[in-house]
Amino acid sequence: METSAIRNLAIKRHDIDASYFQKTYEQEEAVKDGRTAVFLYGRAMLMDELAKTLNTLPQGAHILDVGCGTGHLTKWMQDKGFKVTGLEPSSKMIGYARKNYPDINFVEGISSDLPFEAEQFDLIIAIEVLRYLNEEENMATYEAFKRVLKPNGKFFVTHVNKWATDGYRAFYFAKGLVYKLLNKTYHYCYFTSPAQEEQNIKEAGFTKAVTLGRLAASTRFMYKFGKSVGDKYTKLAEKWYGKQHYISNPQKSMAGHLIVIGHK
Ligand SMILES: C[S@@+](CC[C@H](N)C(=O)[O-])C[C@H]1O[C@@H](n2cnc3c(N)ncnc32)[C@H](O)[C@@H]1O
Repeated sequence: METSAIRNLAIKRHDIDASYFQKTYEQEEAVKDGRTAVFLYGRAMLMDELAKTLNTLPQGAHILDVGCGTGHLTKWMQDKGFKVTGLEPSSKMIGYARKNYPDINFVEGISSDLPFEAEQFDLIIAIEVLRYLNEEENMATYEAFKRVLKPNGKFFVTHVNKWATDGYRAFYFAKGLVYKLLNKTYHYCYFTSPAQEEQNIKEAGFTKAVTLGRLAASTRFMYKFGKSVGDKYTKLAEKWYGKQHYISNPQKSMAGHLIVIGHK
C-alpha cells in the first residue's frame, strides 16, 4: 500500500473510532491509576513516563500534542501549567477535542507536514499515533519534528515493539488475512524495535535517542482470556515484574509499549 493510502486509512479508522475514544477517556479512571482495563492500565504507565519528561521542562514551556485525538491528554498537560497546542487530522476526533476543551488551540493537520513556523515547541508528543503510519511517513514525521522544535527541544513518542510478548504481531497478521478474505481493509501497523528507532532518529538529524519499554506485554495477552483472568494476572505481574519499566534489551524490545525520546 502507498504511504498516502496508509495515512488516509489511519484517519478514516479514527473517524470511525472517535466516539469509542471519547467514551473511554470520559471515565475518570483514565486520568487516575488506570487499573480498570488493560488499555487504561498500560496508558497509566505511559503517562507516568511522560510526566518524567514534563518535569524536565521549564514552567510554561510550549508542547505540541500530535494526533491529540479527543484532547484529553492535551488538557492533562495544560493542567500542569504548560502552553499546549493539539494537532489532529480526523474531523470527528478534532470535533470532540474542540467541544471538550474550547480554550485549547486544536489545529487540523498531519504529523509529516506540520502547519507551524520553525522552532516553536519545547516538546512534541505523539502517543499511539505513529504506529498507524509506515516507516517512510515516520521518517518524514521525525524530520518535521526537527524543524518545529526549538534548539534543545525534544520529542516523546510511542511505537509497537516487533517482539512484544503479547503476540500482537502474529494476531495482527492473522486478522489481516481474514480481512483480505472478506475483501475488507485493515489498518496498517508499523512494527519496530528500539534499535531501529534509535537509528532512524539519528538519521533524521537528532543528537540523542533514548528508548525504553513499559508494560509486561504478557499482561495484555492475559486480558484476551477475559477481564477477570486479566485482572488476576495483573496483580501477580505487579509482584513478579514490579513497575514494568525496562531500559535494556531484551526486555525493552519485548515490552507492551515502546517509548522513544529524541533530543534535537
Ligand atoms: C489511538 S489515537 C491516540 C490519540 C491520543 N494521542 C491519545 O493518546 O489519546 C491516534 C490518533 O492519531 C491520529 N492520526 C492518525 N493519523 C495521523 C497523522 N498522519 N498525523 C497525526 N495524527 C494522526 C488519529 O486521528 C487519532 O486521533
